[in-house]
Amino acid sequence: MKVLAIESSCDDTSFSVVSDDKSIDFIKTINHRKFHKKHGGVIPEMAARQHLDIMDNLQKSIKKFDFKKIDSIAATYGPGLIGGLIVGSSFAKGLSIARQRKLIPINHLQAHLLSPRLTSNLSFPYLCLLVSGGNTALVIVKSPKKFVTLGSTIDDSAGECFDKVSKALGLGYPGGPIIEKLALKGDHHKYKLPLPLTKVRNCNFSFSGLKTAAIDIINKNKNNKRFLENFCASFQYTVGEIFQKKIRNSLDVMNNEGIKFKDFSICGGVAANQYLNKLIKGFIIERNINFHQVPLSLCTDNAAMIGWNAIELMQYGKLKLNDYNIRPTPNILIHENF
Ligand code: KG4
Repeated sequence: MKVLAIESSCDDTSFSVVSDDKSIDFIKTINHRKFHKKHGGVIPEMAARQHLDIMDNLQKSIKKFDFKKIDSIAATYGPGLIGGLIVGSSFAKGLSIARQRKLIPINHLQAHLLSPRLTSNLSFPYLCLLVSGGNTALVIVKSPKKFVTLGSTIDDSAGECFDKVSKALGLGYPGGPIIEKLALKGDHHKYKLPLPLTKVRNCNFSFSGLKTAAIDIINKNKNNKRFLENFCASFQYTVGEIFQKKIRNSLDVMNNEGIKFKDFSICGGVAANQYLNKLIKGFIIERNINFHQVPLSLCTDNAAMIGWNAIELMQYGKLKLNDYNIRPTPNILIHENF
């Protein structure tokens, strides 16, 4: 079984062909970062135009595919920026009508949550920390169709916090990789930042207070190299502390509810952070739970995870498809049971 998948929810245009034996036969991801960089964030209208131009170019690669081997076409229908979602969905719809293939609409968040299973053997149910640009949540993945959110952010996401702090430091977008690099040489004890919502023993997150406190320190200090390194290390350390405290709460919930599981993973763009990965890996392994790291290229937005989600759904069965029906929906959440 092979799926041709398209991802266009934010600022990455990605095409991939994924097989049910977990091989990625083709992947091409083109990031529009350089067009958005000077604005300090993604400009939706510009992103939509980029998706259009890039998809026009990628058509050349698609023409070379042996379509006899492709069973269906999958595309992200939400959440994300409406312009990009319309471009990707319409492209997928046109292609599936022309090639007479099933069209499988995919929820981007659920694709992130299932992405660890593309490269690693996680058994359902497993626990996942989803840390993307738009979301931060602790989720039990029970099947390709059943997710239980134990807690999520009540304001900003962790990725957004990285991006806004980076912007305040004058470092550009996306903030995560830039902060991670500077933090390597810094002293994380140098600046004390708050740990919002960590005294509450639930699994919800809050990052807006951390962002405000960070901006306050940035405004009071001279923005030289040493400050940047120490501040980035302190900020990244604080995010790690918050993650650990909330994961601890989620493990308590699993224990109290008697939910047996043996696998844990972090997914989404922030999971590309090697410091955070190492920290959480240590924390999880100490508790005799298997830690599964998603490869760097599959942490940030990519079409391979969209194709893999479609394969998981087809293998699971009971996939109800309306003919070529895909409705771009910017604000969908993780469906608890669908
Ligand atoms: O998953 P993603 O590519 O897009 C969404 O689906 O939202 O996540 C993008 C986010 C951005 O906020 C970016 O700053 C963050 O992931 N990110 C990182 C790193 N690489 C990307 N955050 C921390 N450390 C990184 N190395």
